[in-house]
Amino acid sequence: MADIAFLLNGAPVRIADAAPTRTLLDWLREDRGLTGTKEGCNEGDCGACTVMVTDGRGARALNACILFLPQLDGRAVRSIEGIAAPDGTLHPVQQAMIDHHGSQCGFCTPGFVVSMATAHLNGRTDHDDALAGNLCRCTGYAPIVRAARAAETAPVPPHLHDAPAFILAEVSSGGEAREGRGGQTAPLSAPRDLDAFADWYAANPDATLIAGATDVGLWVNKDFRDLGTVAFLGGLTDLQRIDHHGTGGRGDTLRIGAGVTVADLLTAMRPLHPSFAELLRRYGSDQVRNAATIGGNIANGSPIGDGPPALIAIGATLHLRQGAARREMPLEDFFLDYRRQDRRPGEFVEAVTIPAAAPALRCYKLSKRFDQDISAVCGCFNVTLDGGVVTAARIAFGGMAGTPKRAAAVEVALVGQPLTPAVAAALKPAFAEDFTPLSDMRASAAYRLEAAANMAIRYAHDMAGTPVSVLGVRA
Ligand SMILES: Cc1cc2nc3c(=O)[nH]c(=O)nc-3n(C[C@H](O)[C@H](O)[C@H](O)COP(=O)(O)OP(=O)(O)OC[C@H]3O[C@@H](n4cnc5c(N)ncnc54)[C@H](O)[C@@H]3O)c2cc1C
Ligand code: FES
Ligand code: FES
Repeated sequence: MADIAFLLNGAPVRIADAAPTRTLLDWLREDRGLTGTKEGCNEGDCGACTVMVTDGRGARALNACILFLPQLDGRAVRSIEGIAAPDGTLHPVQQAMIDHHGSQCGFCTPGFVVSMATAHLNGRTDHDDALAGNLCRCTGYAPIVRAARAAETAPVPPHLHDAPAFILAEVSSGGEAREGRGGQTAPLSAPRDLDAFADWYAANPDATLIAGATDVGLWVNKDFRDLGTVAFLGGLTDLQRIDHHGTGGRGDTLRIGAGVTVADLLTAMRPLHPSFAELLRRYGSDQVRNAATIGGNIANGSPIGDGPPALIAIGATLHLRQGAARREMPLEDFFLDYRRQDRRPGEFVEAVTIPAAAPALRCYKLSKRFDQDISAVCGCFNVTLDGGVVTAARIAFGGMAGTPKRAAAVEVALVGQPLTPAVAAALKPAFAEDFTPLSDMRASAAYRLEAAANMAIRYAHDMAGTPVSVLGVRA
């Protein structure tokens, strides 16, 4: 339990003894009677519960159903009730939703409006991406996107700007001094100091670490798990940095802290590794990317996570820490077996280092739905060519085994060959040697094997300059 403080729709709120795994959605609806924020799926998939959360890094849309109250400490929250001005004047996106007939039954509408108001505040015009995490069953998306476009140039209502001053002046800086904050030995821990946290976790290895809670939130909501002692990593700003090492040459590297969100990683990858960035654009939704961290994506060891195959193909090194002791390994060595990682008790993921340049990196995500869906197969390719001949290859897949895994036999078969579609097509037996995929609700084993082998052919075409994205191919 912990004392927390945040700003709700412009007014300060203090909660004594906040239960660590009480979600913001439940608290808004049950304790505050703010029932405009809806519960649809309760697992981060539908966006009906979207709220705007602001801190020193700006305003983000998040799913309140997988957001625990302690994650809000020192931040500002706006639910749908706080989007219109205090005098009742509608926000421009609300007015535009009326003008463009963007609502029918209305269940999804509060979530859409909060996502739209957050995008509007941030000056975003990529409405398809910004709204991909909001599902509507009756209106259809065209009127909603039309409304978002219509509101683009309207000024941001002044009341939406009030939050950061409060957060920075009264909560964040004052928070360190408040009793119970930053107490690494408290049962509910929200550490601010990385060294102190490392020592605390080494001494409390059974604690559950919570970063973005996009996995852990589901353990609570769907599996009803009791997490015991928890530690919230969101206050560890040292884990949220991306550091560029080098002098601008080919050997430069990026050290990405475990607490970097997928949204921030996406921004950083756009100029360096655009294909990885495109993969991340299809990672969950805006709300999920704004919460999920790359450290959580690696640490949970999911065989269908999108981060690990790309990072392995780039040639990532993983940095682990236990107290003051640190060790590192190639990322692929971290994944031992299904949901079993090479992580010692009290050891946590501190960072991952990747080369700043990998011009031949290409990432392909295959899922049933284009947006907001987990991969059935995720294939990432990165070869070195010399005189048109492959001299080295790093190829990694998700969804093809119990762990994210390199395609060792495929890599061997490719080295020494020209990268042509015919050579790629002949790699199929090597794929069967590397992988024995499972059949599940996402895809059959046969489909996965066929799709993975086809991705190699796609890669050969892609590297030859042929458009291969479904968004780029025209009949
Ligand atoms: C709707 C939805 C859509 C999703 N879509 C995708 C998708 O498209 N692609 C994809 O790959 N994933 C997806 N996910 C899964 C999820 O977003 C990721 O696995 C996410 O990266 C987890 O990060 P987190 O910070 O939220 O982790 P958390 O939920 O906080 O933690 C996950 C696990 O990692 C541990 N952990 C967290 N940080 C550390 C650390 N620094 N050191 C050691 N252990 C740590 C936690 O204890 C826990 O075991 C989706 C999830 C949801 C709910
Ligand atoms: S209720 Fe569906 S995302 Fe929260
Ligand atoms: S208006 Fe009914 S679900 Fe969107």
